[in-house]
Amino acid sequence: MNNLTPLIELFRANQGNYVSGEQISQHFSLSRTAVWKKINKLKQLGFTFEASPRLGYRLLSEPSVLDIDRIQAQLTTSRIGRGITYLEQTDSTQNIARQLSASGIPEGHICIAETQTAGRGRMGRAWHSPQGKGLWYSMVLRPTIPLRAMSHLTLLTAVVLCETIREQTNLPVGIKWPNDLLLDGKKVSGILLETIAEDDRVQSVICGIGISVNLGVDEYPDDLKAIAQSLAMAGGQAYDREALLVAFCEKFEQTYELYLAEGFDPIRARWEAQSVTLNKQIEVQQVNRTIAGLAVGIDEQGALLVHTSDGEVVRCYSGDVRL
Ligand code: BTN
Repeated sequence: MNNLTPLIELFRANQGNYVSGEQISQHFSLSRTAVWKKINKLKQLGFTFEASPRLGYRLLSEPSVLDIDRIQAQLTTSRIGRGITYLEQTDSTQNIARQLSASGIPEGHICIAETQTAGRGRMGRAWHSPQGKGLWYSMVLRPTIPLRAMSHLTLLTAVVLCETIREQTNLPVGIKWPNDLLLDGKKVSGILLETIAEDDRVQSVICGIGISVNLGVDEYPDDLKAIAQSLAMAGGQAYDREALLVAFCEKFEQTYELYLAEGFDPIRARWEAQSVTLNKQIEVQQVNRTIAGLAVGIDEQGALLVHTSDGEVVRCYSGDVRL
């Protein structure tokens, strides 16, 4: 049995009940080791089991697969998500979106994958993107803004994501400057903007978004367990990934149009309302220095204003914040 479908069907036929290793090996004439390998393969694909040494395996949940037609049928946007490239697996949706952007794909196109083998985050970090458990996507934007206004887009995306998650889940998610989304101090979502620019003008932006939606605690590597969690872990229930994506696209389009028409001021007010950084004693770690003080606001460019113990207000344009 090279194909996993007959095994999946056996589990489905025994929904809610345990299937013993013995039963599986007899049914398919497989050794116990081969059965164990196949169960592990199913786990890697996103199937979850309850395992009992005496009773065997009980299928708890199957991986959910995004239905792009269903998503697009719900969208009322004119640009964002009108085109979607869907991939079962890729290295990073940022790479695919970049290629699509270079080939002239219209603004608002989204590349989304069920899993990424080399998902990346800010500052060269890896981004954990297991199969079917999150929303891992990159959007092509072509804003007519100067390069120095790029931080506006970063903060705008964080505002849209934060408001969307709050509205869809009622979870009290907040923004850590510039654009990490936290729940109970743990990261649930991240944003990575990559810019293609020429002569100080932005040609296109690849706006990458990762939302850890339905991962269980066992699906995080040990080094992430203390600092990251999923919406499902925080809310004690699974969430509908398609509904989240549709709500994000709708809100992004409205907010992006507002920004292009009226500038950063309305976005800044919304960012401040969702921030978990402002009015806190913080440290901003930059490449060659650390700035400590009270976070007092963000300026018209999106830089974080830190009031230090010397009485000086330092503008931070980049860095990692520690609360
Ligand atoms: C961060 O917080 O450091 C940013 C994380 C961004 C992750 C997303 S997942 C979709 C897109 N593809 C990637 O490789 N990265 C972004």
